[in-house]
Amino acid sequence: EKMHTPFDAIGEEKLHQLIDAFYRRVGQHPDLVPIFPDDLTETARRQKQFMTQYLGGPPLYTSEHGHPMLRARHMPFPITETRAKAWLSCMNEAMDEIRLDGRLREDFFARLVLTAQHMINTPENGV
Ligand code: HEM
Repeated sequence: EKMHTPFDAIGEEKLHQLIDAFYRRVGQHPDLVPIFPDDLTETARRQKQFMTQYLGGPPLYTSEHGHPMLRARHMPFPITETRAKAWLSCMNEAMDEIRLDGRLREDFFARLVLTAQHMINTPENGV
């Protein structure tokens, strides 16, 4: 029997479009530019692998890079509440751009809000 995961529902092509649209915004957002590399090609490649497994698809990220340990991997970067909000606003706009909507979008975005909050590792005045 066919599995029904959010990854199946979105599909690989649309997920990749979402992540490309997302990093185009990250690369121009004044709160995010200072902590991201200039070339986001590899970042986007890893995020496509990660989001695939996050949404219930094949474990592409773990196969290549091991356990995600997302909070630990973000510790080198000062992530404030402002930056978490900026990250989420880039994602919200990317979802608009690719026209992701309905329950799928709501559930996906709600999960990203929780994960983004978990990445905050620096107080606002620490930057
Ligand atoms: C990598 C920032 C939230 C998943 C990174 C990098 C930065 C960053 C600066 C390193 C980029 C590079 O060197 O290539 C942020 C900020 C966030 C945030 C400011 C705001 C809260 C999230 C969330 C997720 C996520 C919510 C997942 C749902 C990843 C992944 C990588 C990454 C998978 C690649 C890790 C690796 O293999 O190197 N992030 N991130 N991030 N982020 Fe985030």
